[in-house]
Amino acid sequence: MTPLFESTILPSLEKSNYEILYVPLKGNESIKSIEAFTFLENKLLPFIDRQTTLIAIGGGAIGDVVGFSASILLRGIPWIYLPTTLLSQVDSSIGGKTAINSSFGKNLIGSFHFPSLVVTDTAFLKTLTKKQIACGLVELTKHALIQDGDLFDELEQNHAKILSDTDFLPSYIFKNIQLKINIINDDWFEDKNGTRQYLNLGHTFAHAFESITKNENSLLHGEAVSLGLCAAYDLAVEQDVCCEQDRDRVKNYLNSIGMPIYYQNLTFSDKILEYFKIDKKKKGEKITFILPKGIGKSCHLFTVRQPSTQLIFSLFSKN
Ligand SMILES: NC(=O)c1ccc[n+]([C@@H]2O[C@H](COP(=O)([O-])OP(=O)(O)OC[C@H]3O[C@@H](n4cnc5c(N)ncnc54)[C@H](O)[C@@H]3O)[C@@H](O)[C@H]2O)c1
Ligand SMILES: [Zn+2]
Repeated sequence: MTPLFESTILPSLEKSNYEILYVPLKGNESIKSIEAFTFLENKLLPFIDRQTTLIAIGGGAIGDVVGFSASILLRGIPWIYLPTTLLSQVDSSIGGKTAINSSFGKNLIGSFHFPSLVVTDTAFLKTLTKKQIACGLVELTKHALIQDGDLFDELEQNHAKILSDTDFLPSYIFKNIQLKINIINDDWFEDKNGTRQYLNLGHTFAHAFESITKNENSLLHGEAVSLGLCAAYDLAVEQDVCCEQDRDRVKNYLNSIGMPIYYQNLTFSDKILEYFKIDKKKKGEKITFILPKGIGKSCHLFTVRQPSTQLIFSLFSKN
């Protein structure tokens, strides 16, 4: 649990008839590490059995490490998730993916382990900063870009209201959860080559950007996804999959919610290509980029044999 909610949630859990073991964790990307998993394992193993349920209370990083721990401790125990950031409420709490990071890249050690229950309470969102809300909005927008153009129109019109008052969020969160569930429903374990892969829109780029910046000027996940979406739209325009107007609309919108859009500001280096080469979705020498066909018009799979320096450099060398 992120210590932020200690004073509200802990007393009510303690009143239950269950035995509670509380493990405070610092909720940020550094918690998704082997070291943090080992810390958690040392705290938990002396006390748990297969009847134990882990309860994760925090953002996507806490959900990912607790869910991952639940998936492997004692060969798997149940877990419950109370997502406390917008990003975790609209994305990471839905779909059963859990992961920690490796020195080779993001989310490379993980599993599918669905929580038994997700409790999404928008009261948590009151303590988020505008930037954290905008980061969540990026993932919500990603779902609209994949399959709901009307939702994108609404976000485009109402983003100022949404960013300044979290009371506008519940209906969007609800709509978003339905969208994401629809996409994952026929492909729970992402092994059917179906539309679930579209959810990775912008993420091949985003994970590489997050990995190359992790030591200095590190990007929040939502910021990296914003840059990743811009790169995916640029590549889609270059490949004639998407028109320039849709690409520009998406970039303007991301800019207006305060998210970065100039990935060209990142230093281009061969390291980006290295991170593509260890992308989870690669097949042998081939790597697949998810390209948007427009706004809310589904995606196109663009597979290349090892992304060439030329392909990526041509994106970076544009304004
Ligand atoms: N498993 C999945 O399907 C999936 C999907 C999307 C993203 N993710 C992962 O989620 C992570 C990002 O999650 P995130 O954006 O929630 O960030 P985060 O979990 O790193 O949290 C960001 C910050 O917000 C704080 N915080 C949490 N709840 C708060 C609240 N209610 N009020 C104030 N502060 C609060 C945290 O302590 C932390 O400092 C990334 O590691 C990403 O890879 C996973
Ligand atoms: Zn994401």
